[in-house]
Amino acid sequence: MEIRKYQRELDEEKLMDMIRGEGEDWSCYWAGEANARYRKALENSITYVAYDDGEICGYSRSIHDNGFYIYVCDLLVRESSRGKGRGRILMESIYKDHPSATVYVMSDVDGYYKTLGYHREGSVFEVSKPY
Ligand SMILES: CC(C)(COP(=O)(O)OP(=O)(O)OC[C@H]1O[C@@H](n2cnc3c(N)ncnc32)[C@H](O)[C@@H]1OP(=O)(O)O)[C@@H](O)C(=O)NCCC(=O)NCCS
Repeated sequence: MEIRKYQRELDEEKLMDMIRGEGEDWSCYWAGEANARYRKALENSITYVAYDDGEICGYSRSIHDNGFYIYVCDLLVRESSRGKGRGRILMESIYKDHPSATVYVMSDVDGYYKTLGYHREGSVFEVSKPY
C-alpha cells in the first residue's frame, strides 16, 4: 500500500469513482452541483490518498486552521480494503506530517476512533440559523 498527498491530475477521477461507489450515503459529494465544489475542496484541503496495486483504496480530507488545529472531515476506505489498517495509516499520516498541530476528527463512527485509541473531546453542534 502507498499513501501520498492528493494530486488532482493523478487522483481526481479515481477518487470520484470510489466515492460514487459508496452510493447515496456519499451523494452529497458526487452528485449535482456539489460535485464541483467537492473537487475544489479536495484540492484545497490536506488530502491523502491510499493506493493498493495502482487502485485507490481510501482517502482522508482535513482542513487546517492556520497552524493551530487540524479537523479531519472525511475518512473513507473502500469496502473491499477494510480491516487491513488502511484507515489507521491514513489517520497517522495526518499527525506525522503536522506534528505541532492538534488533530480533531469529526466523527460518524465513535467506536472506530475509540479503537484507534483517540479520546473524546467535546462534541459538535450545528448552529441553527434564525431564518
Ligand atoms: C471507518 C473506516 C474508515 C475504517 O477503515 P479500516 O481501514 O477498515 O480500519 P482499520 O483497518 O484501520 O481498523 C482498525 C481497527 O478498527 C476496528 N474498526 C473498524 N471499524 C470499526 C467501527 N465502525 N467501530 C469500531 N471499531 C472498528 C477494526 O476492527 C480494527 O481493529 P483491530 O486493529 O483491533 O483489528 C471504514 O470502515 C470506512 O470507510 N467506513 C465508511 C466511511 C466512514 O464511516 N468513515 C468515517 C467517517 S467519520
